[in-house]
Amino acid sequence: MKKHYDTDVLIIGSGAAGLGLALRLKDHCRVALLAKDTVQECSTLYAQGGVAVVMSDEDSIESHIADTIDAGAGLCNPKVVRFAVERGPKAVQWLINQGAHFTTEKDNAKYHLTREGGHTHRRVLHAADATGHELEVTLADIATASPNIKIYERFIAVDLIKKYNRCVGAYVYDEKHKRVVTFSAKIVVLATGGASRVYLYSSNPDVSIGDGIAMAWRLGATIANMEFNQFHPTVLHHPPAKGGSFLISEALRGEGALLKLPNGERFMPEYDKRAELAPRDIVARAIDDIIKRHGLPHVLLDISHKPASFIKKHFPTIYNKCLAYGFDITKEPIPVVPAAHYTCGGVKIDLNGKTDIPNLYAIGEVTCSGLHGANRMASNSLLECLVFAESASEEIINNLANIKLINEIKPWDESWVKDSSDEVFVSHNWDEIRKFMWDYVGIVRSNKRLERAEHRIKILKKEIQEYYGNFRIDRNLIELRNLIVVADLIVRSAKQRRESRGLHYTLDYPQKLKTKPKNTSLKNK
Ligand code: FAD
Ligand code: SIN
Repeated sequence: MKKHYDTDVLIIGSGAAGLGLALRLKDHCRVALLAKDTVQECSTLYAQGGVAVVMSDEDSIESHIADTIDAGAGLCNPKVVRFAVERGPKAVQWLINQGAHFTTEKDNAKYHLTREGGHTHRRVLHAADATGHELEVTLADIATASPNIKIYERFIAVDLIKKYNRCVGAYVYDEKHKRVVTFSAKIVVLATGGASRVYLYSSNPDVSIGDGIAMAWRLGATIANMEFNQFHPTVLHHPPAKGGSFLISEALRGEGALLKLPNGERFMPEYDKRAELAPRDIVARAIDDIIKRHGLPHVLLDISHKPASFIKKHFPTIYNKCLAYGFDITKEPIPVVPAAHYTCGGVKIDLNGKTDIPNLYAIGEVTCSGLHGANRMASNSLLECLVFAESASEEIINNLANIKLINEIKPWDESWVKDSSDEVFVSHNWDEIRKFMWDYVGIVRSNKRLERAEHRIKILKKEIQEYYGNFRIDRNLIELRNLIVVADLIVRSAKQRRESRGLHYTLDYPQKLKTKPKNTSLKNK
């Protein structure tokens, strides 16, 4: 059985970012693409609303830039925002050229553009309410058929490898054969997605642990803005869904859905003049406030005043899923709550996806590119994946010839470990982290809550490290080791920010600082 693999570019992750990059590299070099689960299982697959891009004559690049910066609450990098927004139409055209189909207007002459929170214009290109599925399946099919792209499913990256002060590969757990292999590559790219599963309730699939952020941290890369975890205002609240994990797209509100109290009264106008279409941080905080003030398990989202034919055409996935849970959205409001949805912080990169470790790149949700600032505007994430896949590919193609492949890598040594004797340890710690992150480091924070979380992290870190050093690894243990790193980075970043801004709200500092805001930045020394 093979224990060592080599390639030109190792891409860790098979979502919009990883696949987008692989397809742009496939005619230039060998690519190895790792997926923690099947190639399609990732956040991208479940994206609903769409891709934010300027495509209409009534819209403009300047308006998309202004809305993004406004949602980002003073922390977007305007140069990066302009870069992403200006490159958006070309990146989306590339996607269409790959064969992705999007919803059109009745006459088929142009694409139907929907609206979401923070956008002052209709600019969200979508495939009904299953945009991510269309994107992921289209790109994965092409990648699977490409001879230069070798896809490794259920190959879980454990750690990145540094030699001669640059990244030269990764240790990877081959889940099927239960062993760790080595990959050497001229360039390694993290496209591992976000970390929202560090919270008890999340709209994300199981793969979103933040492995890439933890691996980059251990290697010494700069990690920025981790306090800004986005909570989506509306996931379905239904007991079998564990407090809600099925997303109800913001596009519903974009097309007229209203948030209501159980007595049918609207509450959003009291919080923001944009009401249901205010940026996400504002809507999620308002719902959290209403739920706590009124002692409710959830609020209601109502689109039943729209024609049933319109609802079924635009939101077939949501309509059918809710029906399966016993709610007919064409006839009645549905119960919704906020849940962890998107990691705005991550591995710090430049416009070409380069990190501060030579030959290590990162693209997509794993990064902090400067596009989202303190709060990502809806549908700007898929845009970011596509745009940075393109810019990183240009940089990689230009540099690859000058990089030597290092095959002399120390094999993984597990001579001292034994098989785990106590699985309950891993599952208990896993649950504990998610619960205290939800309770203490969620939508509303305070010094005391953060200190409590910090205290638990200190204890768990020690326990997990000890366990990791003594027992044979598997997916659960790899993820648990990363989960505690991500929790630690979020809490440390949150403690540094002595103000409330964007997605970070603390009772002890409820106002925004008047001085020029700074990004939080952490480095493992
Ligand atoms: P992902 O698509 O999450 O892919 C991550 C990949 O990394 C996976 O293949 C995973 O297996 C792999 N991976 C992770 N760790 C490892 C490891 N250790 N080893 C090997 N592989 C690993 N954004 C929008 O712009 N518009 C939307 O409409 C929208 N709707 C959304 C709806 C839902 C329900 C969710 C969850 C998110 C939504 N988002 C949306 C956000 C957006 O989907 C994600 O930010 C984006 O898809 C992230 O893409 P990515 O390629 O960076 O990561
Ligand atoms: C949604 O459809 O509400 C999700 C959009 C996003 O997260 O960008």
